[in-house]
Amino acid sequence: MTEAHREQVGGLWDEIGRLQIDFLRAAGLLPSDTLLDVGCGSLRGGVHFVRYLEPGRYYGIDRDADLVRAGLEIELPRAGLADRLPRGNLAVTDAFDAERFGVAFDVAWAQSLFTHLTAPDIRRCLERIARPVRPGGRFFATFFECGESVEGSVTHEPGGITTRHDQDPYHYRFRDLQALAAGLPWRASYVGEWSHPRAQRMARFDRE
Ligand SMILES: C[S@@+](CC[C@H](N)C(=O)[O-])C[C@H]1O[C@@H](n2cnc3c(N)ncnc32)[C@H](O)[C@@H]1O
Repeated sequence: MTEAHREQVGGLWDEIGRLQIDFLRAAGLLPSDTLLDVGCGSLRGGVHFVRYLEPGRYYGIDRDADLVRAGLEIELPRAGLADRLPRGNLAVTDAFDAERFGVAFDVAWAQSLFTHLTAPDIRRCLERIARPVRPGGRFFATFFECGESVEGSVTHEPGGITTRHDQDPYHYRFRDLQALAAGLPWRASYVGEWSHPRAQRMARFDRE
């Protein structure tokens, strides 16, 4: 297998991998916490989470079987972490059905997932991920932010990524995300800038 699995999740492997663990550690993630990585891909963030968390505390779901396999079979062994993650902690699914693990999560995480999801799919994601996250738990999700009008294209700097409201990669206003969480047991708040090299912003959802 080549390194295509790194490019397929957007490249900047080391930088965006490290950024994820740095952010969550600063937000209070503990080694004893149980973490769900929604849209975990080939474990760009996952290798760092697996190294930091107690063995077996990291879980991931992704719709792409090849990416998940590359994470398990290439990235984890390369990082010397193969024995810290049971295979069953990763699942291939596009239905956000993480209840399948039978675990209550302290933290859920979605780095560059909402950027590829339509509004109905974000709603479905928020609805489903609320089920296995424990009350008091948190869900952090990155997104591309647009101005007051969602119409037209926006080019984000740094990174030069162009987004639209009706085409992948998508942009949203924070209040769109807030509206998508309405009626669900989440309290949404804006984190914003978190030093992402492609100018993605952060939203936080606290489980009521
Ligand atoms: C840009 S990649 C980011 C991967 C990973 N979070 C990272 O930072 O390396 C987006 C990921 O979302 C996954 N994805 C897109 N739609 C999904 C869905 N409905 N359910 C699960 N994963 C999804 C893709 O397969 C891809 O791995």
